[in-house]
Amino acid sequence: MGELVMAAKITHVPSIWLSIQPGKHFGIRRKAELALEEIGRRAHERGADTFLVADTHWLNSIGFHLNGKERHHATYVSHELPHFIHDLAYDYPGDPELAELVREEIVAGGQKARVHDYNDLGLEYATLVPMYFMNKDSSIRVLPIGCNMYSTIEENRRIGEALMRAIARSDRKVAFLASGSLSHAFPANEIAESMLDDVSSEINRQVDISVLDMWTQGRTAEFVEMLPDYNKRCTGEGAMADTAMLFGLLGWEDYDGKGEQLCPYFGSSGTGQVVVDFPLPAKVS
Ligand SMILES: [Fe+2]
Repeated sequence: MGELVMAAKITHVPSIWLSIQPGKHFGIRRKAELALEEIGRRAHERGADTFLVADTHWLNSIGFHLNGKERHHATYVSHELPHFIHDLAYDYPGDPELAELVREEIVAGGQKARVHDYNDLGLEYATLVPMYFMNKDSSIRVLPIGCNMYSTIEENRRIGEALMRAIARSDRKVAFLASGSLSHAFPANEIAESMLDDVSSEINRQVDISVLDMWTQGRTAEFVEMLPDYNKRCTGEGAMADTAMLFGLLGWEDYDGKGEQLCPYFGSSGTGQVVVDFPLPAKVS
C-alpha cells in the first residue's frame, strides 16, 4: 500500500533561478533556495519515490491532465520570461504507473482526466525550478498534474481526494508539492521591474499573512471556507488549483496539522511567495 510522505506548498518563482545565476540578482532568493533544498532533503529522508507536482504553469483549459512520460528529458526555455529562464537541461524519471492510477481515481470520482506521453510534452518551470533544488541526483520520479484555469476550488478538492486514493492503491511513497503562489496579482508592465521584491498591494500582503497564520496555527477549516473567495480576490495562480488539491489530499476541513514555514514570506514581481511543509496525520498501525 502506498503512502503520502510529504505535502508541501512551495514557491517556484523565476527569481529563484536568477538568484543562482552570476550577475546583479545573485543570491536575492537565498532563503527560498534553502527552503526548497530542505524540502528535497526531507523527501529523500522520508524515502519518497515520486514527486507528484500540481504545476500552476501547466495550465489546462478543459479537463485534468497528467504528464505520464517514462522519462522527462529535454532543455527548457520559458516562453513567458525567456530572459529569466533558458538553457535549463533536465533529466528525471517519470511515473506512468502512478499517473494511470491517478487517472482511474479521478474518473471514478466522476471527473475527466487523461495521461499523456507525447515526446514534446515537456515540464514547466513550476516543476523544473523546485526540482533543480530538490532532486539534484534525479533519484525521485517526477509526475506533474496540470492545473485547469477554469476549474473551481470544489473540483480541485475532489481531485486532491482522488490523488490520495491513487496513492493508497500504489506501491509508492509520494511527496506532493503544490507549486504555486499565495496572492498572484502581477503589477502593470510599466512598473513590473521595480516590484521584483514586492507584493502588488497591501491588501494582498495582509491576506497572505493571515493565510499563513491559519496554516501554521492549524486553522484549516477557517481557511478552506474562505479559499474560493481568496482565489477570486487575490488573483489565484492557476485558479489556486494546487492549494485546493493539497487540502483535498490532506482531508479538507478535518485536517488539523500545523504547517511548518520554511522561509520568510516574500514578494516577487507583485506575487506572494512561501514554502510550507504540512505535517501528515500520524499513522495508526
Ligand atoms: Fe508561477
